[in-house]
Amino acid sequence: AGNGKFFVGGNWKCNGSKESITRLVSDLNSATLETDVDVVVAPPFVYLDLVKSSLTYRIEISSQNSWIGKGGAFTGEISVEQLTDIGCKWVILGHSERRHIIGENDEFIGKKAAYALSQGLRVIACIGELLEEREAGNTFDVCFKQLKAYSDAIPSWDAVVIAYEPVWAIGTGKVATPEQAQEVHVACRDWLKKNVSAEVASKTRIIYGGSVNGSNCAELAKKEDIDGFLVGGASLKGPEFATIVNSVR
Ligand code: G3P
Repeated sequence: AGNGKFFVGGNWKCNGSKESITRLVSDLNSATLETDVDVVVAPPFVYLDLVKSSLTYRIEISSQNSWIGKGGAFTGEISVEQLTDIGCKWVILGHSERRHIIGENDEFIGKKAAYALSQGLRVIACIGELLEEREAGNTFDVCFKQLKAYSDAIPSWDAVVIAYEPVWAIGTGKVATPEQAQEVHVACRDWLKKNVSAEVASKTRIIYGGSVNGSNCAELAKKEDIDGFLVGGASLKGPEFATIVNSVR
């Protein structure tokens, strides 16, 4: 931690029911969370409104995706306007599951980010390499290419948090070591410095995601360029998520 306010997001992915989500929100409502941390949760679309209206705490709501432009005849999509209408403040874009399972590409993701920002939705912009890309020594190139796609599309990084999520660490229990994460975060910050500006490089928060849990978060949080976390599995457990939020202490 060291660049801006610590940021912890819970990406609930396609998990939960009315019952389990109600329980999770009530656990979050009773948790003691460090005040100097931005805390965001991203429930599945159908529960956004329920979560928004039942959270009593200052936790903000994120969606896990948004449409590329203004709403209309786009069956199955959710527009940015609809998300802001219900009080959603953030959107997660470029998640590896959308890149590699759904097939979204850099250009499409960049355009989505630009549209979301233009409408006042803040963006958690995900990047990260596959295991074979890491093993081939291409981690930095992959991350830089993904950063460039955002950078080419968006006019400003002011409302963007970068989430570095190495794909081999997502949902595998195989967390990156603090050194591995720090190394990529520094490289991304350097990339921003060279390709955007020194100010953006120092101001933009770069958070880590991939098998973060209550036991490994404190070591990761100590690294200077790890400015928070994007948490999957462990964000479905209220007390453990609270431990991760409080790891900046
Ligand atoms: O977006 C968060 C994520 O992909 C990490 O998931 O379950 O490995 O914490 P998980």
